[in-house]
Amino acid sequence: MPALTRRTFLTGSAALGAYGLGLGGASLYATASAATPITLEAKTANALLDGQHLTKGVMTYGLESASADPMPPTLRVKRGEPFAAKLVNRLDEPTTIHWHGLRIDNRMDGVPFLTQPYVYTGDSFDYAFTPPDAGTYWYHPHCNTLTQMGRGMTGLFIVENPDDPVFDAEIDINLRDWRLGSDGQFIEQFKPRDAAKNGTFGTVRGANWQVQPAFDAPAGGLVRVRLAATDVTRIYILKLDGAEAKIVALDGQPLAAPLALDQVTIGPGQRLDLVIRMPESEDQTVSLSDIRPSTAKVVATFRATGASLKRDLGEVRPLPANPWTPPDLKNAETIPLILSATAENAAKESFCGSLGYSFWAINKVPWPGDTSDPMAPLAELKRGRSYILNLENPTPHLHPIHLHGMNFQVIASNARAVAPLISDTYLVLPDEKVQLALVADNPGDWVLHCHIIEHQKTGMTSYIRVT
Ligand code: C2O
Ligand code: CU
Repeated sequence: MPALTRRTFLTGSAALGAYGLGLGGASLYATASAATPITLEAKTANALLDGQHLTKGVMTYGLESASADPMPPTLRVKRGEPFAAKLVNRLDEPTTIHWHGLRIDNRMDGVPFLTQPYVYTGDSFDYAFTPPDAGTYWYHPHCNTLTQMGRGMTGLFIVENPDDPVFDAEIDINLRDWRLGSDGQFIEQFKPRDAAKNGTFGTVRGANWQVQPAFDAPAGGLVRVRLAATDVTRIYILKLDGAEAKIVALDGQPLAAPLALDQVTIGPGQRLDLVIRMPESEDQTVSLSDIRPSTAKVVATFRATGASLKRDLGEVRPLPANPWTPPDLKNAETIPLILSATAENAAKESFCGSLGYSFWAINKVPWPGDTSDPMAPLAELKRGRSYILNLENPTPHLHPIHLHGMNFQVIASNARAVAPLISDTYLVLPDEKVQLALVADNPGDWVLHCHIIEHQKTGMTSYIRVT
């Protein structure tokens, strides 16, 4: 197990680290209204993913200022500061970028046909926006998603809050697996009978494109760990051994009161911000494991280094909240959203890939695939009004449902006690009925879909329109 420290930042230098992109030293405090764009190249590469073989046909994003690291760069910006990226497509198929969890202009949302044209091979698209919220987010294509994301195109997008407390180190983890054969090469992306159930799982577990990476962190220090579950299928139950930790944010949104970490479930699309209190003495290790479904698998380890900084987990205070307009529940209109299986409508061919099946539907209508002539929106919302999405999951499977462009607040569930969390991705349990409230404050067509990508691509996708 190699002791890799390259993604452990000492906090003071975090913004200037190798991944402090879009904010070179000079522009760090720039007040210009437009950012200098970074160039993100969508491209193929070879990479060591299983620790033993070079996998061919990996798909990734690279910066012009190419580092040797094949993983999509972790992009870091500051809340309220403009960000711009030119996507250059060097793949031999169309692509786009969606900025998962960011409340930005609809034209920047990355959904083919609904918000922008495909970006064809050799073409480019200019994304530019100013993130209104701080937190842990991520980016990925919204075209041929099972292939492009399954083969690597998932990267972290971190919006720093200058008002956040300073921790002794920060570690960012891109949590995802790979479907590789014993020779380290990609195998069939999915099995239809699994796509109709929980999805098809990877065969090689990964974190930051390594198998069980080991991070160094200061002994006795408070370490912020930002995790994004970017796998196309896997739902994790994460547990920490060897140290205590607090959850300070979920899905990018600070918790009003940090929660002691026991175990936490996160599905595809979701994020988790932890503060770990590292052990006292040098070389003691902490391990993060996934205990779902039964046998624990170590995801990553953290090794204490140096003399103890003697911090106390009790020092951890809530992170400052992001701006949020509370929905007006008394006058909110309810929108029913029923997630179900379907046997209707074989999927149409599409430039953005079709799995050739339709297994799932929202309100009985399976998404036909990306087309210039999409179906009608699920609902038309009036800008500024409050709504309650009444989500019902009569299936025996879990579905991480993601809404683009707007956040919602979890109001009530028949299946569990819910905290009034603000989020963009809710993991709906079998037989759960949950109410998600929002103010329709961002105009445009916003996709809503299951983030188990086989479910997304075989029908469990739709959209709402805000006018
Ligand atoms: Cu991360 Cu439409 O999704
Ligand atoms: Cu699903």
